[in-house]
Amino acid sequence: MKNLHLIEHPLIRHKMARLRDKETPMAEFRRLIDDIGLLMSYEVTRELSTVPVEVETPVGRAQCNRLAKVPVLVTILRAGIGMLNSFMQLLPESPVGFLGMQRNEETLQPESYFSKIPSAARTHPVILIDPMLATGGSADAAIAHLHANGVHDVVFVCLLAAPEGVKALNAKHPELQIYTAALDDRLNEHGFIVPGLGDAGDRVFGTGTDDIR
Ligand code: PRP
Repeated sequence: MKNLHLIEHPLIRHKMARLRDKETPMAEFRRLIDDIGLLMSYEVTRELSTVPVEVETPVGRAQCNRLAKVPVLVTILRAGIGMLNSFMQLLPESPVGFLGMQRNEETLQPESYFSKIPSAARTHPVILIDPMLATGGSADAAIAHLHANGVHDVVFVCLLAAPEGVKALNAKHPELQIYTAALDDRLNEHGFIVPGLGDAGDRVFGTGTDDIR
């Protein structure tokens, strides 16, 4: 596996343990994703280029730096929305795009149902966000869609990755940098990450009355 950045930090590990716990309720799950996303965003943005800028302070002139190009955030629906808020907090100037990808539960193949990408994605770096990298099908389809629309400077961010998904992305997109908070053991026969955290979309948005507590 290459181009894989495993972002390790005691707070991330601590919060990932709570996130994975099947007893963690939806409200706490949302807060945890926010916290982990914010902690990850520090590393994910580390390679962004800066340009010199002179700033007038109340006392004098300071030689500073600002981002050469503010990145565009693109999130894969639905679960990606859960991680979007943390990146928007850190990058409030960033335009945001959405890609609707639904994994067919029988074939495990992603099916595209929505796309709205800001034009700035063609000229600015793009941070593609989806909490789960399982088979890699959704991320691959999202990246292929971005490429077809003239978007080429992309990094991928997830919370959990399966080795199968990382290898698939390495093979299809050899230059793609992948950031994750954890690399899990494997996929099960249903395409779920093991040990994972279950279905991220269902845990962020809920499925039934049991989630309302
Ligand atoms: C999940 C997850 C990823 C995808 C990962 O989404 O959020 O998008 O599966 O699996 P893959 O790497 O095998 O493609 P899902 O299709 O369940 O949609 P949802 O986010 O709307 O629940």
